[in-house]
Amino acid sequence: MSFAAIYKNSIEQPQAFWDGEAKLIDWQQPYSHVLDYSKPPFTQWFVGGKTNLCHNAVDRWVATQGEKAALIAISTETGSEKVYSFTELQAEVSRTAAIMLALGVGKGDRVLIYMPMIAEAAFAMLACARIGAIHSVVFGGFAAHSLASRIEDAQPKLVVSADAGSRGGKAIPYKPLLDEAIALSAHKPGKVLLVNRNLAPMNLVDGRDVDYATLRAQHIDAQVPITWLESNEPSYILYTSGTTGKPKGVQRDVGGYAVALASSMQHIFCGNPGETYFATSDIGWVVGHSYIVYGPLIAGMATIMYEGLPTSPDAGIWWSIVEKYKVTRMFSAPTAVRVLRKQPPEFMQKYDLTSLKALYLAGEPLDETTSGWISDALKVPIIDNYWQTETGWPILSIAKGYEDMPTRLGSPGIPTPGFNVKLFDETTGEECGSNEKGVVMIEGPLPPGCMQTVYGDDARYVSTYWTVLNGKHLYSTFDWGIRDADGYYFILGRTDDVINVAGHRLGTREIEESISSHANVSEVAVVGVEDKLKGQVAVAFVILKNPDTANGVQARQALEKEIMGVVDHQLGAVARPSRVYFIAQLPKTRSGKLLRRSIQAICEGRDPGDMSSIEDPASLNQIKGALVS
Ligand code: PRX
Repeated sequence: MSFAAIYKNSIEQPQAFWDGEAKLIDWQQPYSHVLDYSKPPFTQWFVGGKTNLCHNAVDRWVATQGEKAALIAISTETGSEKVYSFTELQAEVSRTAAIMLALGVGKGDRVLIYMPMIAEAAFAMLACARIGAIHSVVFGGFAAHSLASRIEDAQPKLVVSADAGSRGGKAIPYKPLLDEAIALSAHKPGKVLLVNRNLAPMNLVDGRDVDYATLRAQHIDAQVPITWLESNEPSYILYTSGTTGKPKGVQRDVGGYAVALASSMQHIFCGNPGETYFATSDIGWVVGHSYIVYGPLIAGMATIMYEGLPTSPDAGIWWSIVEKYKVTRMFSAPTAVRVLRKQPPEFMQKYDLTSLKALYLAGEPLDETTSGWISDALKVPIIDNYWQTETGWPILSIAKGYEDMPTRLGSPGIPTPGFNVKLFDETTGEECGSNEKGVVMIEGPLPPGCMQTVYGDDARYVSTYWTVLNGKHLYSTFDWGIRDADGYYFILGRTDDVINVAGHRLGTREIEESISSHANVSEVAVVGVEDKLKGQVAVAFVILKNPDTANGVQARQALEKEIMGVVDHQLGAVARPSRVYFIAQLPKTRSGKLLRRSIQAICEGRDPGDMSSIEDPASLNQIKGALVS
C-alpha cells in the first residue's frame, strides 16, 4: 500500500488502523474497544486492555534475546562504560522496583526523578512503570525553583536523585539543589533515594534520605512482578513550558504510548531487534523518554545513554560510539550538529560509520547549511522530525518504513499516520490553502501516545490547547507553519511565548518571573532572539527600580551578571539570558500588553510590524538604543 493510502486510512478509519498497530506490543488482557472519543477532546485508546511499559520494554525481550545488549551506559565524564543485557536490565529494574515498594511507593504514587544521564535513572523510570507508579523526570540542568514547582505540583512520595552530575569534567552537585527545592516546596516527599557517585559531598537527612547502593544490596535477588495496568492509567508526567509562568504537567497513558512508540520505531525510525539506537538527548526531555528509554527497548533494540559533551575527549566521541556499538539509527538535534560542524571533519572520518543507516534530527528548525553539511559528512539520509512534549512522537516526518519518499530541504516532512494536521489563519479562523501561513493544528482525536491531560487540571488542558470550530475539536501546537503544494510542511516558529534554546524548550514568562525576583527589578521583558549556533537565545530588557545603579559600563556589567546569577540559581543555567539590557521604558499596547514580537523583531533587525496599538512609539527606540550601547 502507498504511504498516501496508509495515511488516509489512519485518519478515516482510526480504529482499524490502530487495532493493527496494537499487535506490535504484548497485552496481558485484550481491550474491549480501540477508541473512546465520546467526551472530546479527551481520548481513550485501547479501553479495557491491560499492558505494561516495562514488560514491553524489558521482560518481553528477556525470553527471546535475554543475553543481547539492552542498555549501554557510557560516561566520558567519569570514564565508565557498562553494557546491560536485557536479563541484567530486568534484574536491575526489579531491584529498584523492590526498593521503591519497600519505601512505600505503590500504584498511582508519583516518583520524581532528578538525575544525571546514568543507568540508574533508566532503572528508576522502568521500575516505576513496572509497579504502576507515575514518574516525573525533571531535567538535571534545572535548579531549585524549577524543581520546587514540579515537586509541589506532582506531590511525589519519593524523589530519586544523585550526589552530582558532571559536565566538562566538573562535578555539578544535585543534592544541595534538591534540598533547597524541598525546603521551598509546600509538599515534602517522604523519602529521597540517592545514588552516590562519589562526585560531591552529600549531607543526608535522617529518616528521609536513603542510600541506593545499600538498599540495592538488600534487594539483590528481588523479582518484582509486573503490575498490569489498564491502557488509560497514567504512566508519567513530564513538565513543559507554555505561555504562563507555571509549567504544565503533560500526562501520558500506558497502552497508547506503548503502541505509538512501537509503531514509530518500526515505520519512522525503522529499527530492528538486536540493533543499536543512539539518541543524544537527555532523559529530562521528551526525546529522552520516547527515544532513549522506552522506544528503542520496546523495539527490542539496545539503547545508548551517554553522559558527556559531544566534543570531549574530542569531537570524534559520538562517532567512536557509533563504530564500537554498530549504531544503526541515531537521533540528535540541529544545535549539536552545528557544534560539531565547527570541528575539523577528520574526527568523523576516522571512524567506520557503515553501520549507520540514518540520522534523525528534531527539537528545533533544521537549517539547510546544517542539514547539507551532516548529510555530506555521513552520507546517510538526514531525517527531520517535528513534534512536541505533548504529542510524544513525531507529527511530521518522512516515514521511510512505509515508503521511501524524498525529504525536502527545510521541511520536517508530511503528517505521520494518525495526525490529522491542518493549518488555520489566526485572524479569520479559516483553513489555509497551499503556501498560506497559519497555525499548525491537529483535528481530534489525537492518535495514541499523545498527552491525556494536564496533570490534575483537565480544565487547563481543554482551555490551553483546544478550540472548537464548526463542531470539530482542534488541538493547537502553538507553531506557525506553511504547507507547499505537495503537502510538505515548514515550521516557522512559535505563536506563543515559548522559546527554543539549543533545542531546549523554555518559557519566557518563567525567566521573567525569575528576573523580577531581583530586588532592583521593576519590570522585565524576555524574548527569544535568533542565534547562529543555538537557534535562539533569551535576551532580557529590564527596567530598574533604581536606574542610577546602572550608570557606567562597570556597574551595568556587574548588575547584568547579578541578574544572570539569579536565573542560574532559580531556574538553571539553561535558562540564563545571553544578555540583560537596562532601559527606561518597555514597548506596550495602550492596554498595557507587552509587545514582545516587536521587541524580538527589532533584536533580529526586522520590521516591528503594525504599531497602531503602541502606547508610546519612542519606547521602540529604547530597545534599539540598548542594543547598540
Ligand atoms: O516549536 C516546535 C519545536 O519545538 C517545540 C516542541 O518542543 P518540545 O516540547 O521540547 O518537544 C521536542 C520534541 C522533538 C515545537 O512546538 N520543534 C520541534 N521539532 C521541530 C521544531 N521546530 C522545527 N522543526 C522541528 N523538527
